[in-house]
Amino acid sequence: MAPAFDAGAGRGKRIAGRTGVDMTVTYFKRYRMEFELARLFREPDLPLHYRLLRWDESLLMAHADAKYRSFRSELDANVFPCLGDREGCRRLMGEIARRNGFVRSATWLIQWCGKGEEEREYCGTIQGIVDFEGIGSIQNLGITPGHRGRGLGSCLLYHALAGFREHGLRRATLEVTAQNSGAIRLYQRLGFRRTKTVYKAAEVACG
Ligand SMILES: CC(C)(COP(=O)(O)OP(=O)(O)OC[C@H]1O[C@@H](n2cnc3c(N)ncnc32)[C@H](O)[C@@H]1OP(=O)(O)O)[C@@H](O)C(=O)NCCC(=O)NCCS
Repeated sequence: MAPAFDAGAGRGKRIAGRTGVDMTVTYFKRYRMEFELARLFREPDLPLHYRLLRWDESLLMAHADAKYRSFRSELDANVFPCLGDREGCRRLMGEIARRNGFVRSATWLIQWCGKGEEEREYCGTIQGIVDFEGIGSIQNLGITPGHRGRGLGSCLLYHALAGFREHGLRRATLEVTAQNSGAIRLYQRLGFRRTKTVYKAAEVACG
């Protein structure tokens, strides 16, 4: 499904793209949101048939794949084109895991386990890094489309935030595209507060 552009995304000048497709620079409005780790909410129950996996190098590809399947049809794949590309997600995941500030305890994966061995799927991912100010920065939270609305996003956020706290941090932050109203509602309900508006320029194909 092609993402829609409405309020919050400003169009710029038409330019010829590398692939011959006309491109335009679009400015996406994004909010920075912050969370006081002393006010961590109660641990949400993990629904039946799902399991949480803490970070391990052997899960890098599984994180990348869950990230790709969570973001490929979403607006954020226009804001950050690597999210709409399987190889791009692998590269990004590798870069996150190699960062000096990578926080293993704030990086989690969710696996759905059905009845048989073949009914297994990595369906949610979140990663954390600590920024240069000592603030925990949530990277891409993603739940694959068929598993949304069951509390998995809230579970991953809880474990990432608890992981930052365990790491000795006091505050956490994330950035969300202003048009992503579902995610913003979730973050606000869990206690994140909007602190700043930023704009991210991205090249998108002209419609
Ligand atoms: C944003 C996202 C991570 C949310 O994940 P999720 O697993 O659906 O989140 P939750 O289920 O915890 O909460 C979402 C909704 O489900 C509801 N919900 C929570 N627990 C539930 C449960 N046990 N059963 C049914 N619904 C539940 C919540 O009330 C919430 O409703 P709301 O829309 O009124 O706020 C997911 O939609 C996603 O991956 N989107 C695409 C990628 C993206 O945009 N990521 C965010 C980047 S900043």
